[in-house]
Amino acid sequence: MILSVVGLGYVGLTTAVCFAQKGIKVIGVEKDLSKLEKIRSGEPSFHEEGLAKLLQDNLDKNFHVSDSVRDAVKNSQITLVCVGTPTVKHKIDLSGVLGALQEIVSEVCASKKFHVVVIKSTVVPGSTDSVFREFIEQEFNITVGKDIGLCVNPEFLREGSAVQDFLEPDRIIIGSSDKNSENALVKLYEVFKPAPILFVSNTTAELIKYTSNSFFATLISFSNEISNIAEHLPGAEINTVLEGLFMDRRITRLQKNGNFERPDLISYIRPGIGFGGSCFPKDVRALASCAEAIGVNPKLLKSVLEVNDYQPQNVLSIGEGAFGQFRDKSVGVLGLSFKSNSDDIRESKSINLVELLLAKGANVYAYDPMAIPNTKELLRDYHIKYFEKLADVISMCETVFVCVDWKEFHQLDELVASIKPELNIVDAKLFLNRNKFQNYIAVGDSHF
Ligand SMILES: NC(=O)c1ccc[n+]([C@@H]2O[C@H](COP(=O)([O-])OP(=O)(O)OC[C@H]3O[C@@H](n4cnc5c(N)ncnc54)[C@H](O)[C@@H]3O)[C@@H](O)[C@H]2O)c1
Repeated sequence: MILSVVGLGYVGLTTAVCFAQKGIKVIGVEKDLSKLEKIRSGEPSFHEEGLAKLLQDNLDKNFHVSDSVRDAVKNSQITLVCVGTPTVKHKIDLSGVLGALQEIVSEVCASKKFHVVVIKSTVVPGSTDSVFREFIEQEFNITVGKDIGLCVNPEFLREGSAVQDFLEPDRIIIGSSDKNSENALVKLYEVFKPAPILFVSNTTAELIKYTSNSFFATLISFSNEISNIAEHLPGAEINTVLEGLFMDRRITRLQKNGNFERPDLISYIRPGIGFGGSCFPKDVRALASCAEAIGVNPKLLKSVLEVNDYQPQNVLSIGEGAFGQFRDKSVGVLGLSFKSNSDDIRESKSINLVELLLAKGANVYAYDPMAIPNTKELLRDYHIKYFEKLADVISMCETVFVCVDWKEFHQLDELVASIKPELNIVDAKLFLNRNKFQNYIAVGDSHF
């Protein structure tokens, strides 16, 4: 079986090299030629732990790259569509998927062979069985389920642990137009046994993806709301409030060996600067607007977004409450990516904080182990000074906002103690040991 993957961004490249690593022959197609050249030379166009090695190990063996969708489709039996689905005017823009389908289905029609097309991009529920099916059947005069398979196989990898997530999936969701296509996908995914497979309708598969991201986003906004309440209650301590919540036997289980077991999802029940990245904000917005379009008022989802949008401003107010106004002050922002172990700054809340600080007249100094090139590109019109060493930002600033829990920031206390013990710290991620700093405030702290 030969697989083609259209779109070699975060999802597509990870998917392609992981399948290749598992022994499947894969043809990856990318239309951005500079990205394609990088991949051809064995270099991913973004950072993801372990990905470069997998790419280099499989390149020109199980993994071949191309700039031609038609060639890839011609030489394969299944095509995974992994192109971007950005939000445009509060709605998911399906033009990237439709553009890819145009090329894929043209080739399927020309070669007159049954081919399984799989939507891996995240699309609003109903898109595949309405928009894409209609497009294929009307534009090409063929029948979905008979002449071509149309499936949905959402992707749940998390940036920062994408390779591991893909190689060890917790579940595989398969929506399909027909039994042949479903069987082809089951065969493809055999290499990931024993991962459980859930067989669903295309629309259910699409809704599962949005439900998953909206659930975790909701946990984050819930934590931020509780934290914001605690900030107005002198004497309330947010970490202890959460510890009290986690001790509930419905969350923490006492195992037979006497150890306590906590589910991973509690890592989302932590206040911070708000969620970002290419998925959570976009997917919650898309589900909310999908709900509105079908006559459902998504009150909770709207609030999740509202709480999230306010968080950078809230973090700034916490800093101002503790350390005064930042006009003409030297202020550092530590961590620019939307999460640690990633150079992705899409919808990163640190970027919003940088903009707010600049608007307040602060001199902004920025540091991130990986995301500086992307930030320089995005904020090229702003006056920001970037540093390559954490120690240099510390010595330059009066206050630093710590926005991402990068590994090297866990030793921030030692660096601050040796360079500038009086440095003001705003812990926007609530992970530092407050007792190790002279001047410290965190999300959840009373600051009025
Ligand atoms: N990034 C994540 O963590 C993540 C996780 C799960 C799902 N998703 C979803 O997966 C999809 C892709 O996300 P991403 O982050 O990989 O996007 P991305 O923007 O990083 O990558 C998409 C790639 O597709 C390429 N492309 C677009 N049209 C093409 C065409 N016709 N032929 C060849 N290449 C084409 C683009 O040049 C780009 O490199 C989105 O729908 C996203 O919501 C993303």
